[in-house]
Amino acid sequence: MPKEVYGRDFQFLEREQLLSFGEINRLVRIFRDHGIEKVRITGGEPLVRRKLERLIEMLAYHGDLDLTLTTNGSLLKQKAQDLKSAGLQRVTVSLDALDNATFMAMNDVDFPVEKVLEGIDEAARVGLAPVKINMVVKRGVNEQSVVAMARHFKGSGHILRFIEFMDVGHTNGWKMQHVVPSRELVAMIDREFAIESTDPNYVGEVAERWRYKDGSGEVGFISSVTQAFCKDCTRARLSAEGQLFTCLFATQGTDLRGLIRSDASDQEISEAISRVWRVRGDRYSEIRTEETAKQRKVEMSYIGG
Ligand SMILES: C[S@@+](CC[C@H](N)C(=O)[O-])C[C@H]1O[C@@H](n2cnc3c(N)ncnc32)[C@H](O)[C@@H]1O
Repeated sequence: MPKEVYGRDFQFLEREQLLSFGEINRLVRIFRDHGIEKVRITGGEPLVRRKLERLIEMLAYHGDLDLTLTTNGSLLKQKAQDLKSAGLQRVTVSLDALDNATFMAMNDVDFPVEKVLEGIDEAARVGLAPVKINMVVKRGVNEQSVVAMARHFKGSGHILRFIEFMDVGHTNGWKMQHVVPSRELVAMIDREFAIESTDPNYVGEVAERWRYKDGSGEVGFISSVTQAFCKDCTRARLSAEGQLFTCLFATQGTDLRGLIRSDASDQEISEAISRVWRVRGDRYSEIRTEETAKQRKVEMSYIGG
């Protein structure tokens, strides 16, 4: 969320515009009837939502749901134990470099790397594991941190994943030349530590898995620009104010908040979801060009990565 866009004067949503935990939980219950097996809480920064543990508790009550969360890590050290106790299973933590200057050049945040590393340690200590670390790689900004990051997390039990820089939203000034293709990253890491590709855990897994040949763990590569995976994508995204999106690169969503705040039954909401899902034909990453990248798409901080 660049400070020049989301500064002090930015008009954030009023609390009543956000879905309440009860409303989110009701929607998750209805989505489960459609076969949803995994819920990821993301954002924006999910750990700034007050009493988030309460929502986790409600969602964990569904039993066999795979429940996870993506965070920038700034509040993770304080919150990890409560999240675990509430029933969260794992976390993914975003970290784009190990030195503060590069880290801040990528993220425009005002906390140091040390804080994120402490959050990762605490998450692993309380059992929110395996912790996944997301590193977005941007040409000319943090590609020099790739090997250092691999070295740091090799043998730690955490899974480092490299993500190609994407043109989500329209405030990040994306250009194709900013993208470091995963195949280049694989070669870069393989030169330092021998790695070999390994099978996906499940169909539609977005990260291509590679493991260190010496048995000291694995890394992942998310190649959404150079090897689009639209055809396997089964993700639905729900914004904080109840808009349903069928693609990370969507230009518009479908309002579910209006429906749940009317006297619609679960059945009616379920049918509304079906109507959206059955006709979806999103394949943005397969047809991306520098021109489509300029379209006014929903921002990453709104739709959640
Ligand atoms: C939008 S963030 C939201 C959750 C949380 N605030 C965080 O920082 O992890 C979710 C993920 O998207 C990744 N991301 C953000 N901008 C991206 C971009 N332009 N291309 C690829 N991934 C991006 C982040 O690194 C993060 O791992």
